[in-house]
Amino acid sequence: MKQKIEELRRWLNYHNRKYYIDNAPEVSDYEFDQRMHELQRLEAEYPEFDDPNSPSRRVGSDLTTEFRTVEHRYPMLSLGNTYSIEELHEFFERVEREVGAVDYVCELKFDGTAISLTYEQGRLTRAVTRGDGRSGDDVTANVRTIRTVPLELTGEDVAPLFEIRGEIFMPYSSFDRLNAEREQAGEQLFANPRNAAAGTLKQQNSAVVAHRGLDCTLYQMVGEGVPAQSHWESLQKAREWGFKISDKMQICHSAAEVDEYIKYWDEARHSLPFPTDGVVIKVSSYEAQQQLGFTSKVPRWAVAYKFKAEQALTRLESVDFQVGRTGAITPVANLSPVQLAGTTVKRATLHNAEQIAQLDIRLGDMVYVEKGGEIIPKITGVELSERKPDSLPFEYITHCPECGTELTRYEGEAKHYCPNQSHCPPQIVGRIIHFIRRKAMDIDGLGDETVELLYGAGLVRDVADLYELKISQLAVLPRLGEKSAENIINSIERSKSVPFARVLFALGIRFVGETTAKYLAAHFGSMDAVMSATIEQLIEAEEVGEKIARSIIEFFADDPNRTIIERLRAAGVQFEAEERELHSDLLAGKSVVISGKFRRHSRDELKELIELHGGKNLAAVSANVDYLIAGENMGPAKLQKATKLGIKMLSEEEFEALIASVPSPTAQLAHETKCDPESTPAVESAPAQLVMPIQGELF
Ligand code: IVH
Repeated sequence: MKQKIEELRRWLNYHNRKYYIDNAPEVSDYEFDQRMHELQRLEAEYPEFDDPNSPSRRVGSDLTTEFRTVEHRYPMLSLGNTYSIEELHEFFERVEREVGAVDYVCELKFDGTAISLTYEQGRLTRAVTRGDGRSGDDVTANVRTIRTVPLELTGEDVAPLFEIRGEIFMPYSSFDRLNAEREQAGEQLFANPRNAAAGTLKQQNSAVVAHRGLDCTLYQMVGEGVPAQSHWESLQKAREWGFKISDKMQICHSAAEVDEYIKYWDEARHSLPFPTDGVVIKVSSYEAQQQLGFTSKVPRWAVAYKFKAEQALTRLESVDFQVGRTGAITPVANLSPVQLAGTTVKRATLHNAEQIAQLDIRLGDMVYVEKGGEIIPKITGVELSERKPDSLPFEYITHCPECGTELTRYEGEAKHYCPNQSHCPPQIVGRIIHFIRRKAMDIDGLGDETVELLYGAGLVRDVADLYELKISQLAVLPRLGEKSAENIINSIERSKSVPFARVLFALGIRFVGETTAKYLAAHFGSMDAVMSATIEQLIEAEEVGEKIARSIIEFFADDPNRTIIERLRAAGVQFEAEERELHSDLLAGKSVVISGKFRRHSRDELKELIELHGGKNLAAVSANVDYLIAGENMGPAKLQKATKLGIKMLSEEEFEALIASVPSPTAQLAHETKCDPESTPAVESAPAQLVMPIQGELF
C-alpha cells in the first residue's frame, strides 16, 4: 500500500507542476481531483504512511498553528533602492569600476512578502518569513498550501541542502475575491495585495490560507551547495528542479539594455495580473558578487529601481483628525472613492498642517492621490483648474478633537500635539495598546477592543494597572467570560518574563522603536542604567542620536512616567537585560579596542561579539590592550600608539576568523557574505597564530 500511496503522490506532484508552474496541464481537473480523493482516502486509512509533504496537505488544516520564531541560517537582507535612472547609472559605474564589465539580471520586483524556503534532500522542510532579517516566523504549514511552491523537487543534481528565497504575493484576482468576501461578511478590507499576502501568511488556520489563492515566485538561491557560477544559472537550475521562476527576468549585457527593460516594464506592468513596484537589478556572476560584498544592510551587487507611484485624481470631501498614542495629531482626508493601483482609495494621509498649507489644500478640491510603498495613500497636489471659486483656505484645528485641550507644536516637529498625555483618552488607550503588542509585551487575549473596554470600565488607566487586574474584575465585563478573563490574566503574568529590550520598547518612548530599544538594552543592560544616563551617554549607544536621547531624558524626567516605571518594577517586569551565555572563551582575559568604521558589523555588534567570546572591550589604546580591531578612517594617533605598543591589529575579517573556531549565532548573523552561495565562511577554524599583526596593508 505504501507504494500505491507514494505513486499517487508522485503523480499528483507531477500534474500539480504541469498545471501551476509550467502552465501546461496534461490531465483534466476531474481526473486530478479523483486521484486526490483517492490519496486522501488511503491516507486516512493508513495513517502510518503519513507525510507532511503529501500533496493532500495543499488544502491545509483547521488546526491552529503556532508560529515558532527561527533564526535564519543566512540573514535576509533588503535592497538599496532608487527612483532615479541617474543613480542607477552610478550603481553601474561603481560596479564596473570595482569588478569590470559584468552581466546584469533584471527581474520584476514583486510586491508581496519575502519568504525563505529550505529544501533537504529535495524536500521542502522549512519556510520562514523575513521577520527582522535575523529571525522570522516558521510558516511552513501555510506555505505548503501554495500550489506554486514545490513540495518535492525533481532532477539529478538537486543540491542536498539549500535555501531559496522569493516573494509570496497575492494576484489581483485573489485579492479582489478576498475583499469581496470580506465586505460581504462585514469584515475589515485589506488595504492592498501586499498586506493581504502578509496577513494571510500569518493566518493560524492553514485551510484558510489554502483558500486565499497566494502565489510564490523564487528569485534567489542561497547556500553552499548551489551548482552554479552565477545568479542567472542558479535560477535556471531552480526552474529545472520545479520552482516557479519568473519568465519576465532577463539577462542584460549593458546599462542600456537594463534601461530598455525598465522602460518596457514601467508601462507593461499595468497589465500584469499581480502587483509589482519596480525592477531589481543584480550582478549575475557569483564571483563578482563576492568581490562587491555587502554594506551593513544591503548587498552592493544588487539594487532596486522603484517605479514612480501611480496617481489618481479625486475630490476631498472632509478631513478627520486622529490622535495617536504620543498625542501627535494626524489629519486624514476622506475622499470620493477612486481606483488606484488596483485598490479603491477612500482615505489618505495629509501628514500635518504645514503640508496642507503648503499645497493649499481646500475642502471640495480635486486632489492628486498617490500610493508609494506605504499602505496609506497620500495627497500630493491640487488640480487648481477645478477649484470652486468660493473655496476658502483650510483652517487647521487649534484644540484636541478628543479632549479639547489646546494643541502645541514642538520645536523642529511638523506635527501638532495634544499635550494632555495623562488624560486624553486615545493617548492613554493608544499607549496601552502599544504596550501589549506582540513585539512589545505580547499580552495576547487582550486586543484593542478589550483595552478600550477596560479603559471605559475604569479598570485600566495606565500600563501598570494591567498588573493589578483580577480575574473577578474581568469576568463580569461584557463579551468576556471566566475563561477569557483567566487567559488574559495568565498572559499578563507571562509578560513579566518578556526580555528587557521589549519592555523598553513597550514603554512607548517617542522615537524609541524596536531596534533602538534593542540597542539601548544591549548597551546599558538595565532600566536603571538607561534612566540615569546623560544625553552624552545615551548617544553612545548604536542608532541613538540627539533627538532620541532627548526624548528618552524627557520621558524619564516625567513624574507620572517614573511612578509607572516603579509600579512595573514592583510587579516583577524585567528591568535587566539577561546575562548572555558565552559562546566561547577564546578571548578570555583579552582586552580589545575597536576603532574606525566597519563594513560588515556595527561597533555595538563587534562589542557584543568580543564579550560573547569572553573578552573585554576597552575604549582607549594602552599597554593592557591585546587586540585592536581596525576599521576604515581610524584615527592616526590611535594607530601610531598601537603600533608603538606593538598591539596586534586585526581587520574585521581577521577578527571574525579569530572567533570563528566556535560557531556563534551572533557571528553568523553578521557574516553577511554567507548570503552569497558561492562564498565560503571567512575561515572555518582559524588557529590564533594565523592572525598576524598587519599594518600598512589596511590603511
Ligand atoms: S532580491 C539580498 N529580487 O524586495 C537580495 N527581492 O526591497 C534580496 N523583492 O526583501 C532580495 N522582488 O522581499 C529580490 N526579484 C526580486 C524581488 C525582491 C521583490 C523584495 C524582497 C526584498 C525586498 C527588498
